[in-house]
Amino acid sequence: MESSTQYELRLAERMSRLGTETAFEVLNKARALERQGKQIIHLEIGEPDFDTPANVVEAAVHALHKGWTHYGPSAGLPELRQAIAEEVSRTRGVQVKSDEVVVVPGGKPIIFFTILALCDAGDEVIYPNPGFPIYESMINYVGARPVPIRLQEQKDFSFDVNELAALITDRTKLIIINSPHNPTGGVLTRQDIRDIAKVIGDRNILVLSDEIYSRLIFEGEHYSIMSVPGFKDRTILLDGFSKTYAMTGWRMGYGVMRPDLAAHITRLMTNSNSCTASFTQVAGIEALKGDQSSVEKMRLEFMRRRDSFVAGLNRIKGFSCRMPKGAFYVFPNITGSGWKSKKLADALLEDAGVACLSGTAFGDFGEGYLRFSVANSLENLNKAQQRIEDWTKRNLE
Ligand SMILES: Cc1ncc(COP(=O)(O)O)c(C=O)c1O
Repeated sequence: MESSTQYELRLAERMSRLGTETAFEVLNKARALERQGKQIIHLEIGEPDFDTPANVVEAAVHALHKGWTHYGPSAGLPELRQAIAEEVSRTRGVQVKSDEVVVVPGGKPIIFFTILALCDAGDEVIYPNPGFPIYESMINYVGARPVPIRLQEQKDFSFDVNELAALITDRTKLIIINSPHNPTGGVLTRQDIRDIAKVIGDRNILVLSDEIYSRLIFEGEHYSIMSVPGFKDRTILLDGFSKTYAMTGWRMGYGVMRPDLAAHITRLMTNSNSCTASFTQVAGIEALKGDQSSVEKMRLEFMRRRDSFVAGLNRIKGFSCRMPKGAFYVFPNITGSGWKSKKLADALLEDAGVACLSGTAFGDFGEGYLRFSVANSLENLNKAQQRIEDWTKRNLE
């Protein structure tokens, strides 16, 4: 980037280790093509295309009128922390108290704060690859050692627990798991989770369990490692409002963890954000306790789109796609095309007008795959499928 000042920008060394999320870069590139008059179908961004449920919006508007416009406690409003504690106790079958809950602006800060609070230079963190890019970015940022574990397509994008056993060392501080999973849509079964817990055994290793898509399951059930006996104290559960209630722009999520760690995460909140916006938290109580029918409506619509889009992708030469069991992504194997993932994603954007992400945006083991988000209308998904099929006919014969 060209500088307009004579003063050299002397960044901290750690900034060279901070990664990013390619989804936003692809979105910018797609927008630039749109400005040139091209018509792009957006399947790159990971956010529901639905509006936030009206009862939640109303609750926020009401809260604003009622004067919820001031600072609140750093860990979150007591009423919301209590509502989250009740929700997590009910859904995960463990007894959670409100002092184990920290409300933060989105799910992401739980990743940021947890790694910042726990990991020193030289500590090892095991995390899924392909996986949400912020894990690796943050592990590198704090100078810890990233230890990727490969997700395997033939295992429905779960990993081999024997490999996990082999990767754990005396320096392993944290293991990150994510189910339902971004970018593959994989869901860890109760047996998978129990096997992971068994491998960890009674070691003093914490697990960051990213469950931001917990309510978006199409087959099977959501099962948290927090529910495994002996793991409540060693789990940091991440969940939130962004995906479940289509509230990505509101910025509200939470972590559930042992109270002594919660106190440190709260101190990071005090140092960074002071608190999550007060009126959004009032609306968060309504989201959790109010009518849940929109959550089910969105889930069913994502499932309808998934079924149709996966079937369509499987008709395209060079593509083969498993049926994802959760989240709102599909992750086809494109090795049959003979193209590398990034090159294919670029070509589909520029020549076919379909924006998607290269599997490598989620780590090296994402090579051979593309990620499409089905957070777009069925009509646009069908159009995208047709455009990709036409493109492959022109370019892959
Ligand atoms: C796996 C995973 N974790 C966390 C997040 C962050 O969610 P939020 O927008 O609530 O910060 C995302 C968002 O895409 C995600 O895919």
